[in-house]
Amino acid sequence: MLKEQLPYSQACENNKKPILKVLRQYISNQSSLLEIAGGTGQHGEFLAKKFPNLHWQTSDVPAAVGHLNLRISAAKLKNLPLALPLDVNNANWGMNNYELLFTANSLHIMSVKSVENFFTGIPSVLKKQGLVFIYGPFKYEGNYTTESNAQFDDWLRARNPESGIRDFEDINTLAAEVGLNLVVDVGMPANNQILIFSLAE
Ligand SMILES: C[S@@+](CC[C@H](N)C(=O)[O-])C[C@H]1O[C@@H](n2cnc3c(N)ncnc32)[C@H](O)[C@@H]1O
Repeated sequence: MLKEQLPYSQACENNKKPILKVLRQYISNQSSLLEIAGGTGQHGEFLAKKFPNLHWQTSDVPAAVGHLNLRISAAKLKNLPLALPLDVNNANWGMNNYELLFTANSLHIMSVKSVENFFTGIPSVLKKQGLVFIYGPFKYEGNYTTESNAQFDDWLRARNPESGIRDFEDINTLAAEVGLNLVVDVGMPANNQILIFSLAE
């Protein structure tokens, strides 16, 4: 398949380097990462190359895995195995013991129930003291960080009423309920954040 025919998102091209810059500060000797909602596979491909000692296991809902694997298989990277089917709404994610978990631009696409299930599932796949990286836009105390995020939220909800930019406070509460403590909230370009959590002992 020609490179131009692989799954592609301009947003991923724009955000992958800023994301790398943040991840570099937290990833050193860890050897395993689970990505949820891998999408086009661009983050997996780019970041697996940058962290050659990190086994980057990407995943997405079953209906999206074939599409995602077009890029993953074309990348031919030793540390980037084929994506696994994983819907966060499944009671048993069927995998465990990752040191890191990453997801980008997914919580505002999923329903609120799916976001809850995302957090509920994390302790079953993540080692104690493991880190969770969540990239995307958030609201704070009900307020958008920018007018463009408010417009983006309108667009999301018009497309699917179950989608929507999540409140940081709600995310932090859901995280705390499963033993995830906020390490840092990093402001990113284009009105996004990276929330980093650590799973308590
Ligand atoms: C906007 S895309 C983001 C994809 C990619 N991470 C990125 O940054 O471009 C949202 C992703 O969420 C995934 N998704 C939606 N519902 C999901 C669920 N219940 N479980 C896992 N992934 C889900 C979609 O399949 C899609 O890949």
